[in-house]
Amino acid sequence: MQTQAVGTLRQLIETASDIVVLTGAGMSTESGIPDFRSDNGAWQDETLAEAMSDTYLHEQPHAFWQKFKQVFLREEFLSARPNPGHLALAALEAMGKRVRVFTQNVDGLHQQAGSSYVVELHGSIRRAVCPMCQQRYGLADMLAEPVPTCHWTNVKGAECGFVLHPDTVLFGQPVRQLSEAVLAAAHCDLFLVLGTSLLVDPVAELPNYALAAGHPVAVVNLEDTYIDGRAAAVVRGKIGEVLPLVVAGEG
Ligand code: APR
Repeated sequence: MQTQAVGTLRQLIETASDIVVLTGAGMSTESGIPDFRSDNGAWQDETLAEAMSDTYLHEQPHAFWQKFKQVFLREEFLSARPNPGHLALAALEAMGKRVRVFTQNVDGLHQQAGSSYVVELHGSIRRAVCPMCQQRYGLADMLAEPVPTCHWTNVKGAECGFVLHPDTVLFGQPVRQLSEAVLAAAHCDLFLVLGTSLLVDPVAELPNYALAAGHPVAVVNLEDTYIDGRAAAVVRGKIGEVLPLVVAGEG
């Protein structure tokens, strides 16, 4: 591991009391969930990526749900547990720092690890909603049928019956709570980028708001990102190995 970069990251974290964290799929690979754009990533099959759009859901709801389940509701996702990286972020908070996590992940692992401020910019795979009557459903309902539908019944006993929408941001849909993320980036001591290729707008722009407001950006990622050249620290390593080191102050 790059000792100097890890040391700089440790110092940045030590001196910051208000840390905003942006996480991506690389945060959860050590929990057994593949990311999207690496060699074994889900989007290697382009037809799957193309199918994860609101247009496809409207036009072909049955095929959509089959592919959605193939990508997001498979065993790796459902049985995944927080890894040492998630736990290190929760530990930072337990040490008294303000740690606001903005995640592109839909797996719920930050919350499971104990982080209390988690904004799911791309929603969650653990919920679904009826587009007609807005009735909300949980994971068990989504798994119960190949194509989950709304079973809400009105006073006359008629079932709604609409195909549910996952509470996940699909291609073509707006990111959630983006203005909260922009404000957080502009008002923090440190903006920490973890495990994201920073290739998908508008989330990819968030580090720029931190830099524009004069706050340092630090990156832990296995590959280069466009922001590296302007970051105060860039650690090319696994989050689950790097973060526990810097949080324990050993880096
Ligand atoms: N530690 C550090 N970095 C890692 C690790 C790890 N253990 N594992 C993977 N990475 C890095 C990869 O090198 C890659 O640069 O994480 C990054 C993951 O990038 P993507 O697969 O593009 O995932 P992400 O940036 O989260 O994608 C953004 O795109 O398709 C959409 O909705 C999807 O939320 C997703 C969004």
